[in-house]
Amino acid sequence: MQNKRRLSQENSFSMNISIATVFPGLYREFLQTSLIKRSQEKGIVSFDVVSFASFCHPKERLDGPTVGHGSGMAIRPEVIERMVNGQEEKHGFAYKIFLTPQGRKLDQKLAVELSSLFLKNSHIMLVAGRYEGCDDRAQSEYADLEVSIGDYVLMGGDLPAMVLLETVMRHIPGVVAKEDSIEQDSFMGPFLDFPTYTVPPREWKGRQVPEVLLSGNHAAMNAFRKEKAVLRSVKEHFGWVRARCIKKDDKKLAYASMPAHYVVLMHDHVLVQDGVVGTSSVTSLDIHDIARSCSTYGIKGYALVTPLIDQRKIVETILDFWHGAGIQYNNNRAEAVELVSLEESLEKVIAAIESKEGKKPLLVATSAKVQEGVRSITYYDQSIVWKEDRPVLFIFGTAKGLSSELIKSCDYLLLPVGGFTEFKHLSVRSAVAVVLDRWMGINLSRVD
Ligand code: 6GU
Repeated sequence: MQNKRRLSQENSFSMNISIATVFPGLYREFLQTSLIKRSQEKGIVSFDVVSFASFCHPKERLDGPTVGHGSGMAIRPEVIERMVNGQEEKHGFAYKIFLTPQGRKLDQKLAVELSSLFLKNSHIMLVAGRYEGCDDRAQSEYADLEVSIGDYVLMGGDLPAMVLLETVMRHIPGVVAKEDSIEQDSFMGPFLDFPTYTVPPREWKGRQVPEVLLSGNHAAMNAFRKEKAVLRSVKEHFGWVRARCIKKDDKKLAYASMPAHYVVLMHDHVLVQDGVVGTSSVTSLDIHDIARSCSTYGIKGYALVTPLIDQRKIVETILDFWHGAGIQYNNNRAEAVELVSLEESLEKVIAAIESKEGKKPLLVATSAKVQEGVRSITYYDQSIVWKEDRPVLFIFGTAKGLSSELIKSCDYLLLPVGGFTEFKHLSVRSAVAVVLDRWMGINLSRVD
């Protein structure tokens, strides 16, 4: 009688989650803790943790040696088969998720997708391998989805199964009390969550809770939180921001949190032949084409450097055109050319930026070759440069590239851009566009 009542109660759960593991003990505390425990008490979900060993005959091993060299052990296919059949007999057809390092990377988007999948399927099965994982034939036969929690290898899929539950369950109605707290979560939009503080203490180890958060002025508090969230996201998680920034207002906010960037095109201190440093001639196309790239990516100023009087005259003539008749000829180009200035040396460019921004710019050299004696950075290193809170000046070389003396005098050298070939001769116009896009371009990871 009692048993019968227990059973019918179990059937009232909307969602059964089977977890297949080598070590069921790992889940005991986990499932009896906090919100995961409460969600079972509320009848939202029930868990059935099963050991692979319980699907083995007496003396039969759950794992077997893998074939090939460098071999280890993996869960045997027949054991997985019996487990799947046994659990489906008990709880009905299951949507089966195998936790494996080769799976689809778990992120907030997948977590939200899985939460609706959990709601649609009354039986979800999480399969946590150990050793070298599960036999691939069984995995291919049964897995509806393979999930990894990141680019590193763990000793088994049990922590990943728990990580998956910790994130997916947050999106199941009734699990987290304040549902709007989920909307504010980091990784829901282009910006991460704002910083949180407890009061008391108002001050801790000399650090104050920001005054505005104690003011009771909700509009001011929200503005402050948004500003902090955006600043922190842009400076420390730019890859996330650029992959998610779709709305015009969000782009504006993100751009306002980026330090000022400048570009200089050097016609001096460049290699004119291998090992020979000299000056180069200006190119009319480089003036307005690079200006258009600079406008596109929000560069604050684009300077051409040449000490040669006749070359300067050419540039001045072209700039005069764009400031006069060129406005009628092509207004977009004329607008972009507003960014352009002409200087006789790099020092003058640096001084002009310093006087405008109040801080010396960080110098970032670019080159088609890697070079010793200067810190190399990649297109994932915005946080290293941006945390210094200084303007940034990208230095591009014409002819055969910047001299190594000039490169060594810079703070950083950006890795060369290029494809999977040995041809390394992009025009400087193209290189500027590629570098700016890689460094500060929008790079959406999804369209919806
Ligand atoms: Cl799901 N399993 C294992 N063993 N290692 C992992 C993982 C999963 N995700 C990242 N590393």
